[in-house]
Amino acid sequence: MHVPAMKTVLLGASVLALSTLSQANPSATQLRTWASACASCHGTTGKPTGDAYPIAGVDQATLERKLLDFKGKKIPATLMHQIAAGYSDDELKALAAYFAKQPK
Ligand code: HEC
Repeated sequence: MHVPAMKTVLLGASVLALSTLSQANPSATQLRTWASACASCHGTTGKPTGDAYPIAGVDQATLERKLLDFKGKKIPATLMHQIAAGYSDDELKALAAYFAKQPK
């Protein structure tokens, strides 16, 4: 049968992808530390209490693009240019992945 073999290959590939990711990515503790710097304006998990910009559960690619665009000053912002400038591109990508996973 081809199907089980295919599943094994896919599973192997995703395990490989995951382990590559965890090597390239910061630890969960490190990530929460970075994310806590966003909490005062965007809420503890990216879900603000007031009418600030919600970032929890937003599509990862969208968050990543916005953060990199803030850093590159490609989109207008009052605060986020300075904030994004404090992180490397990889750190911004990790933050995008983190907030994308938080509940809306
Ligand atoms: C001092 C308040 C403040 C902090 C801290 C802050 N932000 Fe923001 N954020 C804003 C404001 C205000 C905007 C709207 C754009 C602007 O005017 O800068 C925004 C916009 C955004 C957006 C775009 C949202 C949208 O709907 O377009 C993202 C994504 C974002 N912030 C992520 C983050 C991340 C990640 C952090 C932590 C590294 C962070 N922000 C820290 C105030 C803040």
